[in-house]
Formats: sequence, C-alpha cells, structure tokens
Amino acid sequence: MIEIRNLSKIYEIGKEKLYALDNVSLKINDGEFAAIVGPSGSGKSTLMNILGCLDIPSKGSYILDGTPVETLNDDQQAEIRNEKIGFIFQKYNLLTKLNVYENVEIPLIYLGTGNAERKERIEKALEQVGLSSHIHHKPSELSGGQQQRVAIARALVTNPSVIMADEPTGALDSKTGKEVLALLQELHKTGRTIVLITHDLSIAAEAERRIQIKDGHILSDDGGENNEDTSAV
Ligand SMILES: Nc1ncnc2c1ncn2[C@@H]1O[C@H](COP(=O)(O)OP(=O)(O)O)[C@@H](O)[C@H]1O
Ligand SMILES: [Mg+2]
Repeated sequence: MIEIRNLSKIYEIGKEKLYALDNVSLKINDGEFAAIVGPSGSGKSTLMNILGCLDIPSKGSYILDGTPVETLNDDQQAEIRNEKIGFIFQKYNLLTKLNVYENVEIPLIYLGTGNAERKERIEKALEQVGLSSHIHHKPSELSGGQQQRVAIARALVTNPSVIMADEPTGALDSKTGKEVLALLQELHKTGRTIVLITHDLSIAAEAERRIQIKDGHILSDDGGENNEDTSAV
C-alpha cells in the first residue's frame, strides 16, 4: 500500500520557499487504479517522483508497503524502486541506441535476472503489448504509440506491483492514447496498482479514482474512502 502522511516538498529558490506539495495526506490501496489530475505546475510530477522513490519529501512521511522510504539510503531506495515499481513517462525515455529487446532488458539487468529467465520475460512482456514482431527495431524506427508500448513492456517486465505513468498519452494522438490507456486497464485487471498522472480530466475518467491536485494541495478525491485525516497527528 501507498501511504503519505502530512507530506510537503519545499524548493528553495534564492530566499523564496516554494511548496510544490503542501501537507498532503493520501492512501492508495493495492490494486487500485488512481489518477492524479491537476493543471501544469500543480505538483503532479513532484508527487510521482516521491511515490516512485525517485525523491524524498522535505517534511512528512511516505510509507510504501510498511516501509518509511525517507529512512532508506539511496541504494535501498533504488532497490525498492526496481523491485516494486514500473515507470512510464510522457516522452517514453527509451535508449535510442538500443533496440526494442535491449530496452526492455535494462531493468532485468539491474535486478540481476539470469539470461534464460530474462529472455522469457522480455518475450512475454513484448507479446503483452503487441510488439513481438518488432524486437530488433530501434526506437527511431517506431511510431510514438509503439515506442510507448515498448516503455510499457519495460515497466512491466519486472512484474512490479505498482505502475506509475506520468502523462503517458501526452505525446500521442487521441486514438493511440486510447490504446495506451487500454493497456493500463489490462495491467490493472491483472491486479497491479496503477497511478496515472494527467492534466486531462477526460483521461483521468479512465481511472477508478480521481485525486485532483492544485498548488500542491489535494482539492478533491472521489475514491478516498480509505483516507483518514492525519492532519492532527
Ligand atoms: N527541481 C525543482 N526546483 C524548483 N522548483 C521546482 C522543481 N521541480 C518542480 N518545481 C516547481 O514545483 C511546482 C510543481 O512542479 P511539478 O511537480 O513539476 O508540477 P506538474 O507536474 O503538475 O506540472 C512548480 O511550481 C515547479 O516550478
Ligand atoms: Mg509534470
């Protein structure tokens, strides 16, 4: 389970303090499909970076499956990230010199997965996203939608319990964007927790739950029956 308690992220710009996240509390249960939705600059990516163990809060706590992430050192955070979380980004973030197969292989190399199992998992992940026939292509030889599907295969190849997607359809036309959302729906059906970040309410409508954020605050949450108010703690 994902749980944040009274969490703030403060950036100091000269003498100014900017609260990118301001005393936010939130729980996301295992297997939920939650969208974090808000306008540009509202703190979405800051929140995803913290939830993804890519960054730590300035104040408050992030507890992932019972572990307070801010108590871990960098190596331990990287380990938890590799084990539990798959990332999908707006701009795919594929390595241009590597082919499809090699891009999907990267997280398994970090995990130290053996050769035979690597091959098996990569083939399965590419089959799941419908790209089995493109394993030797370089990213530049693929459409945007295909590149994002490679990124999805890379995110799911480690069998993570959580998938975090930051504006995954932002660079795609609406038809291709729908295909990417349909893949996220499928991953949700297999029991994974999905955290979808978007500025677009019509995309957020695909999720089970919408957490709206603005100026670093949660404005509304239409599925937050599990959220207790921790502001007094
Ligand atoms: N590394 C940083 N240093 C200073 N300010 C930052 C940094 N990252 C983000 N911000 C600021 O924090 C606020 C939230 O940013 P961000 O989380 O990227 O918003 P969103 O993803 O919703 O567009 C913005 O005002 C942004 O300018
Ligand atoms: Mg962002």
